[in-house]
Amino acid sequence: MAGITYLNLPIIEPGLTQKLIEEGLKIPNYTMPGNFEAQLHGRPGITNSNTDNWGASLKQNYRGEVADGSIYKLPQQCVDDLIEQFQPYFKHDIFPTLVKFHNNTGEPMGDCGPHCDAWRTVGINYHLQLGGENVITCSYAQTRKDWSNLLTDGENAKYNDVDLLCEHHVPANTWHVLDVQRYHAVHNVEHDRIFVSLAYAEQIPYRDFLKQYSDLII
Ligand SMILES: [Fe+2]
Repeated sequence: MAGITYLNLPIIEPGLTQKLIEEGLKIPNYTMPGNFEAQLHGRPGITNSNTDNWGASLKQNYRGEVADGSIYKLPQQCVDDLIEQFQPYFKHDIFPTLVKFHNNTGEPMGDCGPHCDAWRTVGINYHLQLGGENVITCSYAQTRKDWSNLLTDGENAKYNDVDLLCEHHVPANTWHVLDVQRYHAVHNVEHDRIFVSLAYAEQIPYRDFLKQYSDLII
């Protein structure tokens, strides 16, 4: 499927899953530019917050933080447990983080509009809590326009300027890799959507990642 590929990796065991959901719910809602989603995408937005467990070399390129500069850390035991279980499958270092999408709109559902991520080329994700029955991840035909600022900036697009390729209803407890330099969006977030995202210490194009890990692809 365009933009997303499922990976044949083991599930996160139930005890750790529960602990990670509890931690994910503690992540503060980072401040987002006022009316950003409404202005650019024309739809009510969500906040996108994550824990601070990026490696030092990745962190210097990463700017996400709450208003007072603090950032929530995933307990080291959770990080260690995830690295112990999943690092053996990867050729480069992984940095497990938790991400929370929060519907802050006051409406029943919020969306994250079409964008390409800052600094990373692939998102290796595993949903612990979906955040609603009908949350969908959309992939679009367009990819990042300006690669010169990949390490510092994401890109955003209006819905009118991107062409939908497919919609994915990604199930919980399933590892997958997302092409995050292809425009993508997440729609219909009702309540907190919590997922593990492995930061990957190589700027590898999505297609090359799939070739390199062909043995992991379902
Ligand atoms: Fe994204």
